[in-house]
Amino acid sequence: MSDLDKAAEAVLRANDRGGYTVPTAGLYPYQWNWDSAFAALGFAEFDIDRAWRELETLAEGAWPNGMWPHILFRADDPDYFPGPSVWGAGTSVGAPIASSGVSQPPVAATVARILYERDPEAGLARLRALFPKLLAWRDWFHRDRRGQSGAILVTHPWESGRDNSPDWDGAMARVPIRDLGSFQRRDTGHVDPSMRPTKDDYDRYLSLVAWGREAGWDTHRIAAEGPFAVADPTMTFILLRADRDLRVLAEALGETEAAARLGADCEAGADAAAALWSEDLGAYAARDERSGVFADGVSSAAMLAWYADLRDPVHEQRLLATLHDLLDAAPLAVPSFDPRHPKFDARRYWRGPVWAVVNWMVARGLHEAGHQSEAERLRHDTRRLIEGAGFYEYFDPCDGSGAGGPDFTWTAAIWLAWASPTKKEGWN
Ligand code: GLC
Repeated sequence: MSDLDKAAEAVLRANDRGGYTVPTAGLYPYQWNWDSAFAALGFAEFDIDRAWRELETLAEGAWPNGMWPHILFRADDPDYFPGPSVWGAGTSVGAPIASSGVSQPPVAATVARILYERDPEAGLARLRALFPKLLAWRDWFHRDRRGQSGAILVTHPWESGRDNSPDWDGAMARVPIRDLGSFQRRDTGHVDPSMRPTKDDYDRYLSLVAWGREAGWDTHRIAAEGPFAVADPTMTFILLRADRDLRVLAEALGETEAAARLGADCEAGADAAAALWSEDLGAYAARDERSGVFADGVSSAAMLAWYADLRDPVHEQRLLATLHDLLDAAPLAVPSFDPRHPKFDARRYWRGPVWAVVNWMVARGLHEAGHQSEAERLRHDTRRLIEGAGFYEYFDPCDGSGAGGPDFTWTAAIWLAWASPTKKEGWN
């Protein structure tokens, strides 16, 4: 175990609030959905029981309709905004724990498979208990978040996990700004405002929350009629991956009906994902559900196609060429947005910086598809970034400096599970 391995473990332990982990103290004081999935991946390196526990506490917040919310407000923290009272998604919607009203990408299903396969005997009972909730969650996505093309919609930029990406700019511009009264942002008190969304973006984020609250968090109606609906490669690809992994788990559990249903949905999902292909960009891209217009730049989400095991040979070759363009344009991969695009911003949230968790997913897909040199480039860059700057929330792809919050759970987790040189194979 290296010093950095020990430091990463210490970050996970310090952010552990007793069965669940916060992304980082201060800036993000609650349990976040896909952050917990990555945290479990990190815990699995030294405490597999604690890893399962992280997924189990996350599942405790599942709504009666199956949705796993993106934030669980387990303990009120006045230093965070917008908190539980702004979301208004508590007992009125049957939420077992006060929560946000949107979801996040279902990485947890894929991590459940990794944990199970690490030790099937020890994991079987845990998996058996968790599986119905994972299945209900993916059923919810298919029921309440499928767009016309079959690709999966996000109804708020926060649902995608890529909060401030230029991918949402077109659709966000049409979101009417409501009279929000006076409110005080807390994020800009923790980190430099130049790294965070602008005031105009924030007003629109909150206007979407107000709309959802007034719709009683009827998640079906919000996707069908709400002011923001964008078919998102992150959600579409991560769900497709989750479905593939859940199918394997269904078979292991002898759940034959579920396995057959998941298998059929994977085939349909792969066809639907093709609707996100933009010939102009030579990549998959977010597509506004209401206007049909594609995002006008390439984001790192496009590169999750391999993680979803999409293997259309024509698109694959072109996507690989586009990936190389991004790798050539940024000294440190993978930039969250194309460095050659005018909207690229090396330090602002999801408009250019590198995230270790995205690198892990993209690289894992590349590795499985046999694109080993690209996969290793991502692993090598992730290692350099963390060695150089520490466990920051994200990194500048030009100079490698850390940005956002320090001592970040998911960056420490990815170090332990994949980027550390002591993790020899690193592909689980
Ligand atoms: C930001 C990120 C999101 C993450 C959350 C907690 O909102 O954009 O992906 O889940 O922080 O780390």
